[in-house]
Amino acid sequence: MYKIGIIDTMNEKGLKLFDQKKNFSYEIINDLSRENLKKELPKFDGVTLRRGKLDAEILSKCKNLKVISRHGVGYDNVDVKFLKENNISLLVTHNSTSTSPAEHIMFMILNIYKGRAMFDTMVREGNFYKAIHLNINDNFELFSKKILIVGCGRIGKKLIKKCLGFEMKVLVYDPYVDEKTISDLGGEKISNLSEGLKILDIISLCVPLNKDTKNMISFEELSLMKKSAILINAARGGVVNENDLNKALNEKLISFAGIDVFEKEPPDKDNPLLKNKRVVLSPHAATFTKECLEKMSEETVQNIIDFFEKKIASTKIVKL
Ligand SMILES: NC(=O)c1ccc[n+]([C@@H]2O[C@H](COP(=O)([O-])OP(=O)(O)OC[C@H]3O[C@@H](n4cnc5c(N)ncnc54)[C@H](O)[C@@H]3O)[C@@H](O)[C@H]2O)c1
Repeated sequence: MYKIGIIDTMNEKGLKLFDQKKNFSYEIINDLSRENLKKELPKFDGVTLRRGKLDAEILSKCKNLKVISRHGVGYDNVDVKFLKENNISLLVTHNSTSTSPAEHIMFMILNIYKGRAMFDTMVREGNFYKAIHLNINDNFELFSKKILIVGCGRIGKKLIKKCLGFEMKVLVYDPYVDEKTISDLGGEKISNLSEGLKILDIISLCVPLNKDTKNMISFEELSLMKKSAILINAARGGVVNENDLNKALNEKLISFAGIDVFEKEPPDKDNPLLKNKRVVLSPHAATFTKECLEKMSEETVQNIIDFFEKKIASTKIVKL
């Protein structure tokens, strides 16, 4: 019998897959505190992980642990060095986690470009004709605007298609993806990030958080952008330096930002971005659609079953 710990909530579609297996039992761990994880996790052969941080100290208590199946694709909440040294496998849900985030990025872009909730408020408050008298300088067409997509992986590639549907010009910065792959998708490869930053109307970060991407967009990079530029970060907090972003917005070096992810989650109450009117926010919710959460839960559970049944595809295992 394989004992599996489900760390954090999980859609019941995924849990149902365990019910069809006689040799798997599972337990849901809702208390994500370090003390509780240290106490509860040692009994498991494998865990699924949504929120919750698994550092080396917690992992060192888990003598039976053979695999972590991430409910998602980012794994900055796991000590990968420890996993590598102790031969623990890490699996990700890369089949189900790109459509909704790419749509969420479009939602944030459209939200900013089409006046946020301004028109909705006007109608509800009985100011139907107010918009006619406004000098609308903050609303724009997406047609022919230049978007720079930083990171051309699963989400970046989906985003290219969506932007082309809006007849935008798509620039892509990803040193690890060749020019032909990008041009076949309809984008244009940018080799020098600074050059791209100077000409973009919209920038969307679609990279993992690691030592190379931490603070990839800081004050210096923001200063290169046009004053009308908008920035969307639905990748990971920390890829964009939050204080620098807030400063750049306040100094009107760029015009708006859409932020789904934060350096610290949940963000502190005094995080300046929470009060900044030039930011549209969401609570790390780019995957929060019915379809995506169902598919992610099924993929997370299927991955761990496939791992123990020795039929996991090598592409699902992160190369540590
Ligand atoms: N907000 C959310 O809910 C949410 C949901 C899914 C994924 N994400 C985040 O989005 C990230 C991207 O997801 P994905 O599925 O597209 O990942 P992916 O691994 O398929 O793609 C990442 C791409 O980034 C590129 N890259 C890496 N370092 C780079 C650098 N320094 N400069 C430019 N490009 C670089 C890689 O070459 C790769 O093409 C994830 O790592 C995750 O952190 C967030």
